[in-house]
Amino acid sequence: MHPNDKHAANISDFNITDFNQFIAYLNDQLSDNGKGDLPYFMPLARANSVVTEQKAATFYRGLSTPYNQAGWRKMWLCHGDAGQIIGHIDLRAHSEPTSAKRCLLGMGVQRDLRHIGLGKVLLAHAESWLLKTTSINWIDLQVLSGNLPAIRLYQSSNFVITEEKSDVFQLDGHEFSEINMSKKIR
Ligand SMILES: CC(C)(COP(=O)(O)OP(=O)(O)OC[C@H]1O[C@@H](n2cnc3c(N)ncnc32)[C@H](O)[C@@H]1OP(=O)(O)O)[C@@H](O)C(=O)NCCC(=O)NCCS
Repeated sequence: MHPNDKHAANISDFNITDFNQFIAYLNDQLSDNGKGDLPYFMPLARANSVVTEQKAATFYRGLSTPYNQAGWRKMWLCHGDAGQIIGHIDLRAHSEPTSAKRCLLGMGVQRDLRHIGLGKVLLAHAESWLLKTTSINWIDLQVLSGNLPAIRLYQSSNFVITEEKSDVFQLDGHEFSEINMSKKIR
């Protein structure tokens, strides 16, 4: 079996009982934000690169809200052989409740398992759910300038840059643009 097929088989719907394990995984991922040569992928300074209680509560609320209700969020996890989380992808509603044809995307892959195709598999999984289950036409996302692995992954999955806003974030003495990317899925 190709490694990607194995990962695809291990992708499952997020279950709210996995919430604490997910937050621990996310905190571990965030501890790399801007560390050494690694890119900043969240607009947080190094010292604040943790999942705050407020952020966790926002996730919890969204993940408890089914698709098509205001504030919905849908997530999938990829698990490793020992049951550990090795990747995630989530789709969520735009804040304007009348924006029903577009959604926002977030994702991450465990640091030791990057650049082997898992990100692409997760993107394909989420897109397939959108096509089968929803009437959404567009996926939108925001990425920080400098996060080249993410920008290249999205470009190779046919997202296009729609806007780059300069000087949006100042993190630990570095300037970052906010890049908006979108993909029309149907
Ligand atoms: C961005 C991220 C999710 C990519 O996941 P991944 O599983 O490593 O991506 P894939 O292996 O599927 O890579 C797909 C394509 O993305 C690009 N890519 C991925 N990692 C790359 C890297 N380190 N350098 C350059 N390009 C890279 C390549 O074009 C690659 O295609 P290729 O292998 O044919 O060259 C991962 O790096 C990550 O979790 N980063 C931290 C969190 C994050 O940035 N999330 C997104 C916030 S917007």
